[in-house]
Amino acid sequence: MAMSLNGMIASKSGNEDFLSDTNWKSFGELVKKHGCFIIGRKTYETVQKWPDYNFNDIKARLKIVVSNDKDLKLAPPFLAANSPKDAIEKAIAMNFESAILTGGSTINSAFISANLIDEVIINIEPAIIGSGISIFAESDFEKRLSLDEAVRITDDIMQIKYKVNKN
Ligand SMILES: NC(=O)c1ccc[n+]([C@@H]2O[C@H](COP(=O)([O-])OP(=O)(O)OC[C@H]3O[C@@H](n4cnc5c(N)ncnc54)[C@H](OP(=O)(O)O)[C@@H]3O)[C@@H](O)[C@H]2O)c1
Repeated sequence: MAMSLNGMIASKSGNEDFLSDTNWKSFGELVKKHGCFIIGRKTYETVQKWPDYNFNDIKARLKIVVSNDKDLKLAPPFLAANSPKDAIEKAIAMNFESAILTGGSTINSAFISANLIDEVIINIEPAIIGSGISIFAESDFEKRLSLDEAVRITDDIMQIKYKVNKN
């Protein structure tokens, strides 16, 4: 995920103008390692309308879109799943050992509430946004993490990696 210093992943209207292209490249690199990514249905629809690039440009063997809509049909390598657990089961059934969950806010909270996030990787942009969509939608959970790594990936962007404590 890429966020402002105060944890916003998009403006209230859903645009990500305060985020740089570096994050898209960084996401593409991570997906190369894992081969599979998972997104919420709203993120899928938002990003597919972007003018310059979208999820079709990311090389991955499996691209899972999570939605409650059981009739959602997508062309491969996109595949619909009906819950976070269903998404993970579908990835495992296709022999993936790991996957990148890349938002948005609602699906991030659904996954962390279900204990399905092992590691959190965040690019912090040099912006503070007064209102917007938070990296985790408000929900009833509390998790503790351990800092794994913090790297300055450009002059302005820090990438931080945390392991989610499972106990
Ligand atoms: N900065 C970043 O790194 C980054 C990354 C990704 C997204 N974003 C931004 O985040 C925004 C979208 O976030 P969002 O919170 O509005 O939407 P979202 O999390 O992308 O998608 C929400 C949708 O996912 C499905 N969903 C969520 N939880 C589910 C569950 N437990 N079971 C089944 N389906 C579930 C539902 O789809 P249905 O309504 O179809 O049932 C729900 O409406 C966009 O503006 C996007 O640009 C930013």
